[in-house]
Amino acid sequence: MTNRLPRKASKAEFHKMQPQAVEPGKSRTWITRAGNFAVAVSEVEPGAVLERDANPEEYMVILPPGGASATIEADGQIIDAKPDSLTIVPPGASRITATSKGLVARVLSKASADIMALAWNSDTYADGAPELAPPDLWPMPHDGYRLRHYPLGQYAKPGGERIQPRVFRSTNMLVNLFVHYQTRRDTTQLSPHWHDDFEQASLTLNGRWVHHMRYNWGPDLSSWQPDEHGEMGTPSVVIIPATVVHTSRDVGDEETSLYDIFCPPRLDFARKKGFVINESEYPLPDAPADDKTKTGGSLLAWQKPG
Ligand SMILES: [Fe+2]
Repeated sequence: MTNRLPRKASKAEFHKMQPQAVEPGKSRTWITRAGNFAVAVSEVEPGAVLERDANPEEYMVILPPGGASATIEADGQIIDAKPDSLTIVPPGASRITATSKGLVARVLSKASADIMALAWNSDTYADGAPELAPPDLWPMPHDGYRLRHYPLGQYAKPGGERIQPRVFRSTNMLVNLFVHYQTRRDTTQLSPHWHDDFEQASLTLNGRWVHHMRYNWGPDLSSWQPDEHGEMGTPSVVIIPATVVHTSRDVGDEETSLYDIFCPPRLDFARKKGFVINESEYPLPDAPADDKTKTGGSLLAWQKPG
């Protein structure tokens, strides 16, 4: 960890704030950015259209369980996407048309400048976030860009481990769509850790969550930040800055959900053979010159490098 003063976490609890984009009667979209990506969560009615004219890079579309269903079109392909699915959309023109009411979450990279500019917290990143590793694109998929669609139910093991990671990656990001939780996290088995030079978004769509965060100290006492232990309702998202020690736990009695998002993809996860579900579709990058471990602290077994 360095002596640099960490950037403050961005927290968005959507129903407590105005949306950043509205299609009257059809959709309301809350846009929260990090240094290298943005999370856009839309409440949609049937017929709502979420369109990209010429998106520079791939983006991801998460339709949560109980969320909206939609047709997703790009490059002459069309997919009938159901709730509880992930779709990777190729660069270029694309269109999502909701066929039922519910939530649609999109993750777009920094290259989607118009989306980044709409974010409610764009001022937080006005300095360009120089502490972050650059979001270099990883190699193109083996068979070229196309719509890639993953119904998620097949990757859940009912009655299995409480924490079931489900990790997917593209050329520009990596998401971990944990199987939803019916029981609460054991408070003697938390995993406070930090990331040296990349940020993490934790998107929570069900239940209530506490994101514990501790900011690194710098040499100036007056700039020290208090720990954060605030409880958040859902749907909501938190952007955890680089170097901030963090761990999240769910509270209350309801089903809970948490999806982690990283951009660029995490090399430590991508190198764990068999860990990234769609790893056979995307080549790994050549080993970078700076190949050190980027994550420190208390880690659970699944979080450790392979
Ligand atoms: Fe983390």
